[in-house]
This record gives sequence, C-alpha cells and structure tokens, in this order.
Amino acid sequence: MCGIVGYTGPREAYPLIIKGLKRLEYRGYDSTGVALLNGGLKVHKKKGKVADLEESLVGVNVHAHTGIGHTRWATHGEPSDRNAHPHASASGKLAMIHNGIIENYTQLKGELIKKGYTFKSDTDTEVLLNFIEEIKSNNNCNLEEAVRIALKRVVGAYVILLLDQDDPDTIIAARKGSPLVIGIGKGEHFLGSDASPMLEYTKEVVYVNDYELAIVRPDELILKNLGNEKLTPYVQKLDLELAAIEKGGYEHFMLKEIFEQPQTVYDCLRGRLDAASNTVIMSGVQKHIDALKNAPRVIIVACGTSWHAGLLAEYVIEELCRIPVEVEYASEFRYRNPVINKGDVIIAISQSGETADTLVAIERAKEQGAIIFGVVNVVGSSIARISTTGSYTHAGPEIGVASTKAFTAQLAVLYMIALKIGVEKGTLDQSLFNKLFNELNAIPDKIAEALKQSEHIKKVAEKYKDAKDFLYLGRGYNFPIALEGALKLKEISYIHAEGYPAAEMKHGPIALVDDQLPVVFVATKDSYHEKIVSNIQEIKARKGKVIAVITEGDELIKSMADDVIEVPEAHEIVAPMLSTIPMQLLAYYIGVVKGLDVDKPRNLAKSVTVE
Ligand code: AGP
Ligand code: GLU
Repeated sequence: MCGIVGYTGPREAYPLIIKGLKRLEYRGYDSTGVALLNGGLKVHKKKGKVADLEESLVGVNVHAHTGIGHTRWATHGEPSDRNAHPHASASGKLAMIHNGIIENYTQLKGELIKKGYTFKSDTDTEVLLNFIEEIKSNNNCNLEEAVRIALKRVVGAYVILLLDQDDPDTIIAARKGSPLVIGIGKGEHFLGSDASPMLEYTKEVVYVNDYELAIVRPDELILKNLGNEKLTPYVQKLDLELAAIEKGGYEHFMLKEIFEQPQTVYDCLRGRLDAASNTVIMSGVQKHIDALKNAPRVIIVACGTSWHAGLLAEYVIEELCRIPVEVEYASEFRYRNPVINKGDVIIAISQSGETADTLVAIERAKEQGAIIFGVVNVVGSSIARISTTGSYTHAGPEIGVASTKAFTAQLAVLYMIALKIGVEKGTLDQSLFNKLFNELNAIPDKIAEALKQSEHIKKVAEKYKDAKDFLYLGRGYNFPIALEGALKLKEISYIHAEGYPAAEMKHGPIALVDDQLPVVFVATKDSYHEKIVSNIQEIKARKGKVIAVITEGDELIKSMADDVIEVPEAHEIVAPMLSTIPMQLLAYYIGVVKGLDVDKPRNLAKSVTVE
C-alpha cells in the first residue's frame, strides 16, 4: 500500500519529498527511502518511519532538484533496510519505487536469475526494476520504451516512479490499479499517491489512469498509453486546503477526526436535506432514480469499516425501500462467480476510493452490466471515477488509520439514499420520512452532545485497559456498531475483540464469559430493548463486566451495568450514528493509555491498495 512522492523542478527536492511522505504515512510506515539525482544517483533508505530516515540523514548532502521517495507497507519481504524502497537496478543506474504487487514476479525473477542476475532484496519491486533494465540494455532503447515493453508482461498492480542517472531531470511514472496524481507547477512537477504532498505548491492536478505512462520533466508532462500514443492530460482543479490535513491542536489525527464529526456530518447533510422543500436532494440518486427504485436487488461491496456501514445500510434499505440487499466483502465477491441479474445495483462504499478489492469487485460487476453507485470520501479517487454514479461523503481527508469521521459520513449518505429511494418508491410513508428527515438534521448537534462523554470514557478506558479480550454485542441497527466497535479496539489497542449479535452470543461466545471479560453492549433504546436487557442479565449471571452504551436516562440498564456511557435519545434507525461515538472514543483512549501510536497502528495502512 505504500505512499510515493516525486519532484522535478527548481526547488530542493529532498525536504519537499520528506514533507510529502509524512503526509502519506497513512498508506504505510514500515520503512522509508529517497532516491536523488545530483550528478549521480543517490539512494538513502531505512527501516522505520519517515522521521527515522530524516534523522539518519542529518548532515548528509541531500542536495538535488529531482528525486523520488517512498513510505512502505511491506507485501513481499519483511520491513528491513534492504527491502525498503527505492531499489537500485543491477547496474546502479536506475532507481525505482513501487506501490502494488507484481503477481508474476517469481516467473520474471526465474528468467532473470538464469541470465545471471542476483537480488539484494526479497521484493517483487526489485525484480520488475531489473526486468526493465534488462529490456533496456537488450533492446538498446530508452527507459520509457523499456518500461512500456516490461509492463506488457506484468501481471498485478502498480504505480512505479523511476529515475535514470543518465537522464538527470526526468521521472518516468506508470500506473495500473494504484493511485497516482501529478501536480502541475510553473517549471516544476509533483507526483504523489494523492494530492497531499503538493497542496501548498499547486492546485492543478492530473489523475493518471490505468495503463498510462508519464514522462515528467520540469517544463514538460507527456502522457501516453502503453501503445505509445500521446494522450491529452486532463487537468483538474484541486479542492483541498492544507489546514484540512493538519492536526489542529489535537494530540492525534484520530482524536481530531472524532471531534470533527458534528461538522463533517453537518457538511455531508448540508444542501442535501433541503428543509425548504422537505426533500432529499442528491443528484447522483436522482439521475438514476428509476433504476434505483426498480432494482430487484442491491449488492453492497466494501471492506472493513466501510463494510460495517454497508451492513447497517442493508437493515435501513430493506426497511425503508423494501429492496433485498446483500452485503459482500469485496475480497470474496471479486473471486466468486457472483450472480448479477439485470437491473441489480451495486453500492460500493469506500473512504479512500482506492481499496484494491473494492475497485476490482466493481470493475467485474460493471462488466456484467450492473449500475455502480459509489459512496466515496476521496474526491477523484479510482472508485469514484469508475462508478456509474454516486454521492461523496464530504468528510474531508481522514488521516488516522482507524476510520471514524468517514464512517459516520458514510452512514449519513446511506440514510439519505434510503430516504430518497423509499419516498420515490412509495415504500416509505410521508410521516416516517418527515420524522427521519428531522432526526437526521438533528444528528450533528447530538453527536456534539455524545462527545461530551469523552472524559468519562477515558476513565472507563483506564479501568479496562489491561483486559486481554473484549466482547461487543448489539442487536438490530446496533449490531453493525458492535462489529465496528470491536474492529476499532483491535486496530488501535491490539486487544482481541469480537463483535456479535447479542442473541447469537448464547450459541457459542458465552463460553468465553468470566469475571475477567468486559462485554460492551450497544444498547440504546429501540424495539429490541427488553431483549438486550435480558442479554445483559445473561452476562451478569456469569460474572462478566458490562459496559453499556445507553440512551440518556435509561435507569434500568444503569442499575445492572458496571459502567454506562450515555448518548442522546434518537430514533432507532439513526441512533447508530450516536452509539458509534463511544466505540471510537473507548478504542482511542485504551490505545492512548497503553502508550500506543493510535494514528499509525502496527501492521496496518490506511489505504489498502493491494489484495
Ligand atoms: C478502518 O478503521 C480500517 N482501517 C479499514 O477496515 C478500512 O475501513 C478498510 O480498509 C476499507 O477502506 P476504504 O473505506 O478506504 O475502502
Ligand atoms: N510490493 C512492494 C513491496 O513489498 C510494494 C508494497 C505495496 O505497495 O504495498 O515492497
């Protein structure tokens, strides 16, 4: 999943690349490296975060006007100095960074070994680089030509940036399946996995498409397809401010993003819940309203937290629109032979818009004629671009690896889609529509209320921080929130946690319950309230510790639970937007009191652009 940065122009390349890599660390942070062209080619790389590399290079001459940099999330070969990117070719004349996986690398490696090549790393990247170099010397061609020939043999996903010491101010870049943005300046160009490394320098960007190759020089950007035909770069205006990607006084991005939610959810609803006309205005839905309301089936594909948003959407769409919904893990969906019938609508949910499994899943479904509706946060991302239609979640850049504000924004968008389809289809009566419309409008303020429990939640976190396992239970609309709570805790605190439907607990997990096990109940007031109260009793009878997220003033559960966290009252359909807030804060504070790096938890990366 790696982050990549490149620069060529009059500025000092190294500090610019380092700053850019720090912004891309959400994509991976197990090792870092830079390659700089200054007379010759210099490669500096190291296991560890960007700051570790920076520290190791204090006092070293890093002067250069052209360079590339990489922050890695290892797929092939453990995180180590020698596996870090950039890799240098056998001759030492070429350097390359890569985001993705070369699936047929063993075969290519075998061919190269027969020709006498040896390898310094365990990566697929070094194989591709030497394969390119071999083609270059065999065909006596330039680097661009060699890359083109090589990529025709490559199976897999990649963004690659290459430097050639014989071509001092040029970066060759190519993409298939991983993201690449090129920023256009005056006499300079910037490259990045996303636009964050170039924000303060330019607002003009080109999103490179799959099977495109770019030759980038200070004064020139040439875009070609793999057939060597020139393409006209489509220059877009970037709508992203630097302040949006900085911590703004919070200790961690995760905390900042949790606290931004009243605003991000408001931004997401704004202009869409139209009070004047009492309607939901969503052009992406409106354009395809007939297809959506007549869909025989909706299939939701997503991963991780986005999948949890999808699971809640299943409950909501089935209830309000009476359309059967299936929720699929994108990674499973893409490798089965799923039945997609005429008229089926696929909803793809993704914060990053770059998750490889989700991207390929929808490509497959699109080939079979399905309409793809994207619910995506990152504007201009691959999933947004490939979708037939969609709605952005407008949560702004989410940097913390654990998804928080993007999740609540996804829920807000999915609720609005369901409201709109339901009312157009006639399956949602006007009075329930009005009720939910007003309830959604009130949600940003209620999230602000729920956040006031932060200090209390910190104390709960301190009390349970040493637990080895957690169980999260919820029913109905709160079941996906139990799953999401467990995922947040695992990611941030490394404590094993399981989410379960509360009633299903007695079919197995109840065997885990003893006086050491904290059980988090997502138990806001809803139609199943009495049932969940019984489930709490079942846990208490076995001496489990109960932490319950409840509706304000629920004295009954207060009298039974060891600890409660209150959230404002809300209609049961939208209440998950509130019950999810304590899940985020509990995981955050447990991670913090355990002294862990909550913004960069081990082994994870924000954007999973590999399978
Ligand atoms: C969430 O906290 C995770 N880090 C992860 O599960 C994430 O939701 C998943 O990788 C999907 O990402 P996407 O929304 O960018 O597609
Ligand atoms: N496959 C490369 C490596 O292991 C790049 C990894 C990635 O982009 O996730 O180094």
